[in-house]
Amino acid sequence: MIIKIFKDSKELGIALGKEFVDAVEANPSIILGLATGSSPLGTYASIIENSKERGVSFSKVKTFNLDEYLACPLEDQTYRAFMKENLFSHIDILEENTHFPNATGLSDYDKEIAEAGGVDFQLLGIGRNGHIGFNEPGTPADSLTHVVDLTESTRVANARFFRDDLSLVPTQAVTMGIGTITKSRRIALIANTLDKAEPIAKLLQGKKDLDCPVTALIDHPHFEVYLTEEVDEAVQKLLAGSLAD
Ligand code: GLP
Repeated sequence: MIIKIFKDSKELGIALGKEFVDAVEANPSIILGLATGSSPLGTYASIIENSKERGVSFSKVKTFNLDEYLACPLEDQTYRAFMKENLFSHIDILEENTHFPNATGLSDYDKEIAEAGGVDFQLLGIGRNGHIGFNEPGTPADSLTHVVDLTESTRVANARFFRDDLSLVPTQAVTMGIGTITKSRRIALIANTLDKAEPIAKLLQGKKDLDCPVTALIDHPHFEVYLTEEVDEAVQKLLAGSLAD
């Protein structure tokens, strides 16, 4: 595990976006795993800016998103719409090369990823309870793409995208499993807000724990954790506290 610490969320996004464009430049047919949520927004802005400035094309890139809501009542809040708005419509990626899991033919998503050659570089956010994708606490480490019932805390956290109306937040989603995610050759995880300090502290304690899904990545051979200084400080405090206990 490699920890990278940045002054703030902006600097973090600039640096990670550049890493993605470097990776596409080095391998124009790269397979990317992408994430939604507010954490990666700066990274996407930086990918757009860097690829334009440096003339790096995404025309041969394939993407596989981590997750998608089921029966989402607001079309503009689907993760496909999110990706279009924040990344895809600003780069020269082909729509047919962008993939999202769906409820029909679940096992096909893992197969599709494998047939494309596997994910080379996976971007991840993290939930307040340590979830990755929508793999909530308790999800087995070898799980593949599956349907999940969203926990109350995840639905409450995401209500801000649904006019703050919990009744509009979908109750289910389809997500890559933890086993799907750990197969990626390189993983970069972003924690750029203080509410993520707790699961990151658990991660840094280095013990796998099914109740904190992100800890499944502890022994991944190429796993980078992108933190802001503020998050790092909060994590260090939590770790110091737990040592004192
Ligand atoms: C959702 C997504 C996750 C994401 C998490 C954190 O639950 N399914 O992939 O990591 O939210 O979101 P945010 O980055 O907005 O804090």
